Amino acid sequence: MKTPASRKESEDLDARDPLRGLRDYFELPDGIIYLDGNSLGPPPKEALTRLAKAAQEEWGNGLIGSWNDAGWIKLPESCGAKIAKLIGAENDEVIVADSVTVNLFKLAAALNEKRKGSIAVEKDEFPTDGYIAGGLSRLTETCLVKIQGDDPSALAGNDISVFVKSVVHYKTAAIADIAAWENEAQKNNVAIIWDLSHAAGVIELDLKKSGAKYAVGCGYKFLNGGPGAPAFLYVDRNVVNDLNQPLTGWMGHASPFDFSGNYHPAPGIRRFSCGTPQILSLSALDGALELFQNIDMGKVEEKARGLGDLFLSRAKAMGLSSVSPAAGERRGAHVGLSFEHGYEVVQALIARGIIGDFRAPDLMRFGFSPFYLRYADVWDAADQLEDILKTEAYRDPAFAVRKHVT
Ligand SMILES: Cc1ncc(COP(=O)(O)O)c(C=O)c1O
Repeated sequence: MKTPASRKESEDLDARDPLRGLRDYFELPDGIIYLDGNSLGPPPKEALTRLAKAAQEEWGNGLIGSWNDAGWIKLPESCGAKIAKLIGAENDEVIVADSVTVNLFKLAAALNEKRKGSIAVEKDEFPTDGYIAGGLSRLTETCLVKIQGDDPSALAGNDISVFVKSVVHYKTAAIADIAAWENEAQKNNVAIIWDLSHAAGVIELDLKKSGAKYAVGCGYKFLNGGPGAPAFLYVDRNVVNDLNQPLTGWMGHASPFDFSGNYHPAPGIRRFSCGTPQILSLSALDGALELFQNIDMGKVEEKARGLGDLFLSRAKAMGLSSVSPAAGERRGAHVGLSFEHGYEVVQALIARGIIGDFRAPDLMRFGFSPFYLRYADVWDAADQLEDILKTEAYRDPAFAVRKHVT
């Protein structure tokens, strides 16, 4: 697809966009161009409807009976089945629970108990992944190995048992070659836990076909589940019963309501549950996932790439340097641009209704969700960025005030 070279060409592409109708599924404030769906997706109308129903009808009227009558107790698994379709897993291989951080711990610890060895993590991985790998290696008195680069042969040596890596890197958006890493992992008896936080819901994934057996991912980014939405965890059904996760809470028990004094893990993916599911958040996520039913993820990925290509071509013309792969097929749905005054520029953009985010030390990060963004929006956002750079509007001291969340 040719990258548009004008606003008119952007509008023409929007008119032909097979996904253009999906914008109506979202509740978006007027006058905003939202380039932050990679950090917190905006609310799908169905998520808000489900949230209100869960709070008012199911909790308000159904009270405790809703655990059975409204299907609350099954929600971690039924919601997981919806995510399974998006990542190329079977319905019974995904559970929604806890946060990515907690799920990483549960899975890495279970795998390292099965085969004790070094815990490895990508060197520039999202910090929580590295912190958990470090914490687990301390707890199990095993070595922590940091792996840099995209050469899978790095898995040889160091007696690595578990390796944690993102499919789409949180800063650069570089896409990992899952099959190549899994091929090398098999040779070295390494279990890879894929972090799908920036990949799920925006790129086409076929975990089973690529040989991936373990993954975790985020519910509040491109899945649009809402702030603090629970995360998901995937384990291949052929190996799940070999694993015992260490957070042996009652919801992972085979029969929680037997109130047995002895712990027996549930068969299948439910053994990765821990405590009581977060029903209100889960309901919002479950509603948000309705959007993805009957959607062609190939088309979603193609449009994300097209939007990113357009923004990158405009940024290049402004002389900005990108940390993201130029080739769309190697890039997820966000782009990172490094600039000395990146924080201030992002604040100046936000003041003009264009919402992106900033990742220290100098990265301006913009996410391109194909569900509600139009090519013309990306064109307009680039115009504003260009103006802010040209006029140095970002030098206003108000834009230098650091907020807690960037
Ligand atoms: C790649 C990646 N992994 C993990 C996390 C943390 O997830 P959680 O807050 O659900 O633990 C994030 C959050 O942004 C992330 O980007």
